[in-house]
Amino acid sequence: MPYQFKNIFVYQSAVEKALIDPEAFWGEIAANFHWFSPWKKVMNCKMELAEFNWFQEGKTNISYNCLDRHLTERGAQTALIFEPNDPNEKAQHISYTELHARVSQMANVLKANGIEKGDRVCIYLPMIPELAISVLACARIGAIHSVVFAGFSATALASRIQDCTCKLIITADGGFRGNKELDLKIIVDEALLSCPSITKSLVVKRTHSTINMLSGRDYYLEDELQKVTTICEAEIMDAEDPLFILYTSGSTGKPKGMLHSTGGYMVYAGYTFQNVFDYQEKDVFWCTADIGWITGHSYSVYGPLLNGATTVLFEGIPSYPDFGRFWEIIDKHQVNQFYTAPTAIRSLAKEALSWVEKYDLTSLRILGSVGEPINDEAWHWYHKNIGKENCPIVDTWWQTETGGILISPLPNITKLKPAFATLPLPGIKVALMGEEKQELIGNEVSGSLCIKFPWPSIARTIWGDHQRYLETYFTAFPGYYFTGDGALRDEDGYYRITGRVDDVIIVSGHNLGTGPIEEAINDHTLVAESAIVGFPHDIKGSALYGFVILKEEHTDHGKLREEINQIISDQIGPIAKLDKIQFTSGLPKTRSGKIMRRILRKIAEGELENFGDISTLLNPELVAEILKDKR
Ligand code: WTA
Repeated sequence: MPYQFKNIFVYQSAVEKALIDPEAFWGEIAANFHWFSPWKKVMNCKMELAEFNWFQEGKTNISYNCLDRHLTERGAQTALIFEPNDPNEKAQHISYTELHARVSQMANVLKANGIEKGDRVCIYLPMIPELAISVLACARIGAIHSVVFAGFSATALASRIQDCTCKLIITADGGFRGNKELDLKIIVDEALLSCPSITKSLVVKRTHSTINMLSGRDYYLEDELQKVTTICEAEIMDAEDPLFILYTSGSTGKPKGMLHSTGGYMVYAGYTFQNVFDYQEKDVFWCTADIGWITGHSYSVYGPLLNGATTVLFEGIPSYPDFGRFWEIIDKHQVNQFYTAPTAIRSLAKEALSWVEKYDLTSLRILGSVGEPINDEAWHWYHKNIGKENCPIVDTWWQTETGGILISPLPNITKLKPAFATLPLPGIKVALMGEEKQELIGNEVSGSLCIKFPWPSIARTIWGDHQRYLETYFTAFPGYYFTGDGALRDEDGYYRITGRVDDVIIVSGHNLGTGPIEEAINDHTLVAESAIVGFPHDIKGSALYGFVILKEEHTDHGKLREEINQIISDQIGPIAKLDKIQFTSGLPKTRSGKIMRRILRKIAEGELENFGDISTLLNPELVAEILKDKR
């Protein structure tokens, strides 16, 4: 079976093969990668126990597959195009040969600084080439990378470092983002005060700002690179050896360190990149996601490089120096596939069309969307004004936990339907579950979105807490992986994702658990209790609405709101700030003391009546009070 579904016939036969003989299907896909020695068994999984083994006893290395494997055929080809924040700074083109050398050199620096296979390395960098290089260098020597998005606060960074006891951190003096400078090293210094596991920090010079360097702990990367060679053989890794940890918010408690393993992740990232984006030789692919998120891991770095593609890394933001920045980059680098989030599309769609019309976008062949449901209006704007009605839009549904895209149209194969992620990819078996925990059969149904058969890149565990992994994803519907999302299946069998059914809210494409934000707010000395819900927002998709009970009345609500948002910013990051804060004397609760979020959600959404069944509500008089003061 070919690795690439060139037409509908090949696609249909793949769908059939995957259904009838999944092991043979995945074995044939995996054979397109380099294995130092072959696997003995394709899969050995127990969904109920969340035990997943793929390509058992196979030996490989993902950095070898991303780099070494391409050297003879495409050594001179550009692997990475780096587009800096400032359009006046020159873009960099890094060839496969150069990237191979730089990754190997970086890997040697890690080794020279005591990093061994299995050690955790935290990466806290802006979107500069060193970020991709660090990721690949860890993979090369079998160190487990844990990339933390450079917008997270010192407290959030520290908790992620502590959770998986990282030994070393790679950071920068600072970063450029629009007209702002990020003080990364200052944040790291603060975080490391409570991270005894870190013995070394390697610092990239990016902004050349003045920073403190702690003797014996902090080293400039450029000095360290001088001390080593550019030759470093890739470590032979077992297919199930861990590759990386990436944290995602849960509805309660601390963030979950999702652990991905080497072989399955590699096969699935490569397979989905090739097919979902219909990658052809010499195409230039651009995914705008930061490598701090799973989208950046799978589709800015690993997926493209596994396929010998050219991938664009962009340091900046869509609105700097003006609203034409994305379109200018597409024109400048003749981008063929462009993959971004609905929130970015919505924010640019509200600006003048002249920003788009200034640039030549005819190089584009495929457009992608990810991270949250794309609404009809945004879909049509994207299709018409960016794709000029010539480019299929792949609305890709997936999660940090799934490692790669699970539901998406395939360009020129799947008939598109705006705002529908359409169909699962060959090899993926989706189920919708009803209230009685039964699988809903047939079309025109909606329920909880589950996956009922393992796939190679499913997360292996939550770092250090397999029990939490089981409870979060595998107990709601025994034998199924529960995604936390709701979805409907229409008359054509197409899937539309309707949003989260748990207490995670997606703000501008970022998952935010309500629990951790409430905990942060409750740390304010005047706050007794709080509850967060989401409400629809034109650009962000959802925004956060906080209901806060004070310990005692306070006259300056404006100041309190600022302080509460500051605490959230300090403990999590600016992305989790609340759009609206309402002070109230109580929260609607059930007789058993549980907050009735359903009612708060309705109020935040602007509903004035129709709160559904409120028979279990302990304090109905509160609802009128909350409605009166609604913001
Ligand atoms: C949401 C991002 C609708 C969904 C890859 C999921 C989507 C969560 C889509 C995972 C889409 C992602 N349509 N919703 N095409 N893609 N989501 O872990 O709620 O950052 O569960 O992974 O984003 O977010 P995460």
